[in-house]
Parts: sequence; C-alpha cells; structure tokens
Amino acid sequence: MQGYLSEERRGAVLRDLRTHEGTCSRDYLAAARNVLRELVAIPDLVQRLPLVRKPGGYARNLLAGNDAVSVWAMVWAEGATTSIHDHHCSCCFGVVSGTVSETWYRAVDAARAVPTEEHDRQAGYVACMLPTGPNIHRMQNRGRGEAISIHIYGFDHEAHSSSIETEYTAVAG
Ligand SMILES: [Fe+2]
Repeated sequence: MQGYLSEERRGAVLRDLRTHEGTCSRDYLAAARNVLRELVAIPDLVQRLPLVRKPGGYARNLLAGNDAVSVWAMVWAEGATTSIHDHHCSCCFGVVSGTVSETWYRAVDAARAVPTEEHDRQAGYVACMLPTGPNIHRMQNRGRGEAISIHIYGFDHEAHSSSIETEYTAVAG
C-alpha cells in the first residue's frame, strides 16, 4: 500500500518526524511542518505520483506510515468537500497545488457547529492543528481544477481508518 514514495524518501520522512515525545509535542509539530515545507516546495514530485482520484470527491493516498504517524496525499476534485469535523490526533497539512478552502467552526453542542472563519489556503501553505480545544474545520476545493495537499496525522493507519473524531452539522451563527 505504501508504494508512492521511494523507499529512501519514505524512510527520510518517517525519520524526520520525531515522535518520541508524542505527536502533539512541539518538537514533533515543528518537524512535521519542516517535512511539509520540503514536500510542498517540490510539487512535481507529488504531482508525478500515481495518485488515486475520486470524481467529485477527495481521495486519500497513503505515502508513508508507521505505528505513530501517517502521511497522505489528498487529491481534491473540483467541488470536493470534507464533513465538518475535528480530529482525535494532531493534523498537519500543506498545499501542493491548487487552493484548499478551510472553514473554521465553533461547536454549539455535541453535534452542531457555527462557522467562524474562512481562509483560502494556497499552494505552499503549511499548518498544524491539535486535537484538543475547539479545532473544528471543513476543507473544500472551490477552485477550478484539482488541488493536492499532503496531510501528516498522528495516527497509525492500521489502527484507525481516519483522523476524524466527531462530525458536526452546520447551523447559522
Ligand atoms: Fe481535518
């Protein structure tokens, strides 16, 4: 399943992600940002990979993973959108190509959330998000053509099917 990056690069990525203090630690998040900055700086490398696409939606492609972290390339078709969700683990991402719009939400109860902020994340953008606190978002490709992003999650891809903890329904603010 992990065949998209060369073994050497895959090993380097996993080595660079310093997980011994946990995948919410400052060192880990700084390392994840660095890995993402390196990957988004060479968009050709990611664009050339035989990535899976999903018409109208987003497709996840596992690039590297171990028992603490997993690195995915997401291909966003035009109009693709995630649910409104939070995470059970840290979630760092970088935009390789296109634009991914991110909307932030505030929970009003265990199942509903109101939008608070909206940002267009352009190619080159890198950010990290922690699971604790009010970190609820939705990501969408509202642009023309596809977008590609890389996501590094603090979860074992063999133990969890995704990074999503809770999904919410949007309500007006
Ligand atoms: Fe997310």
